[in-house]
Amino acid sequence: MNLYEQLAAEIETHISRGVLRAGDRLPSVRKSCETKRISPSTVLKAYYLLERRGLIEARPQSGYYVRPQLGSMLAEPEMTRPVGASTSLKVSEFIFEILAAVKNPAVVPLGSSFASPDLYPLKKLGSRLARAARHLDPRATVTDLPPGNTELRRELAKRYLERGVAVPVDEIVITNGAMEALNLCLEACTQPGDLIALESPTFHATLQMAERRGLKVIEIPTHPRDGVSLPALADALRHHPVKACVFMLNFQHPLGALVPDEHRKALIDLLRNHDVPLIEDDTYADLHFDSRCPLAIKSMDQTGLVMNVSSFSKSLAPGYRLGWVAAGRYAQRIQRLKLSASLATTIPVQIALAEFLKHGELEPHLRRLRARLEHQQTDMVRAIEARFPPGTRLSCPQGGYFLWVELPAGTDALAVHRMALDEGISIAPGPIFSAKREYGHCIRLNYGHPWGPDIDAAISRLAAIVQTVMLK
Ligand SMILES: Cc1ncc(COP(=O)(O)O)c(C=O)c1O
Repeated sequence: MNLYEQLAAEIETHISRGVLRAGDRLPSVRKSCETKRISPSTVLKAYYLLERRGLIEARPQSGYYVRPQLGSMLAEPEMTRPVGASTSLKVSEFIFEILAAVKNPAVVPLGSSFASPDLYPLKKLGSRLARAARHLDPRATVTDLPPGNTELRRELAKRYLERGVAVPVDEIVITNGAMEALNLCLEACTQPGDLIALESPTFHATLQMAERRGLKVIEIPTHPRDGVSLPALADALRHHPVKACVFMLNFQHPLGALVPDEHRKALIDLLRNHDVPLIEDDTYADLHFDSRCPLAIKSMDQTGLVMNVSSFSKSLAPGYRLGWVAAGRYAQRIQRLKLSASLATTIPVQIALAEFLKHGELEPHLRRLRARLEHQQTDMVRAIEARFPPGTRLSCPQGGYFLWVELPAGTDALAVHRMALDEGISIAPGPIFSAKREYGHCIRLNYGHPWGPDIDAAISRLAAIVQTVMLK
């Protein structure tokens, strides 16, 4: 072992034994050189190695710090196995009923799809919005019609460039949240009665959108860490007339999967061979815990088949309803559909967000947000490990703010949902994420709210409810 590897191993032991804990600062390079009598380059090599392993992080002008240790002692759920055949949908009523409780502010929001509003710079955004409204150029009411405010689209194109995707400004269409973008994409590439492929489980609203448009779906097995199964997708494409795919490659909702880079290349090749468009729902991409933003599969797309959809709803400005799609070969069609669907996205909001981005205010906010979410995940994972019954399995995503919890076999997640609600706690039961109401023993928990006595107590109550339901 080299000297730097020895130092890295020593620090790793301190971390694993809890001597050094999340948030602790490592000795400065100079201090380590003095105490260990080694060169600065040896210390730095050790720190770089630990950084690559995800154990520590560098903070600008401050030094190296121990990162929260992601991962759980609980086993990870296995690849999902949805029932194979394609199906038409009848899910909306059921999903609306289940989610109704989440709006009640008195309920502990473990079932919410939103992170805490306290994590967002609402005051700063408010000032930008007030300014945009006060100084609104009356001509903007026309010039900022679809595809949308040019400055905002340019700022978005610059952010794509930073992720290695060259997106022409003209290809970006501003929408009312990612939700409108997803609806427009589906409309652009399908007809009622067509079949689309989705991950299983998937974001419940995508199921509802498919139902609204009269689409059938085929659910593709999905792994909680590696995402959609390529062999299963290849099989579906060979045997079914799939007209489009809607996948989340970065922090899949609800599993949290992050598709490995090498799978993305194979995925895009597969879709190109079948000439099937991909609606890439990238809504959570900015909430990555690693220092690097994950790739957009759009960066590998040479033929305009990928529509990359995102929004600021989860990353910056909940409630502003600002989303977009970089729509590839469908850009013009989507622009027209947007005009006929809702004419425009609120113009002062577009201008306010363009200004926010232009003044470099997004990245510092995102750095803080990601660090908070990462810590909150650690707190919730540790609590679940300690209190949930043996046989529980847990996903540990590298970003986003959802945990997918597989309860011991036979535990009725809908019964857990009802009992928890009676005690003022919401959860999202597994069946809302499936066309055929599968995942009856799974729940999705939201760790997007600051850890405190209320969340801590809710996790304890939930663990007790799971025990009770298991024994019934
Ligand atoms: C995966 C995914 N896509 C899209 C959306 C919708 O985003 P927006 O609120 O911007 O419409 C959500 C919101 O929960 C989501 O989880």
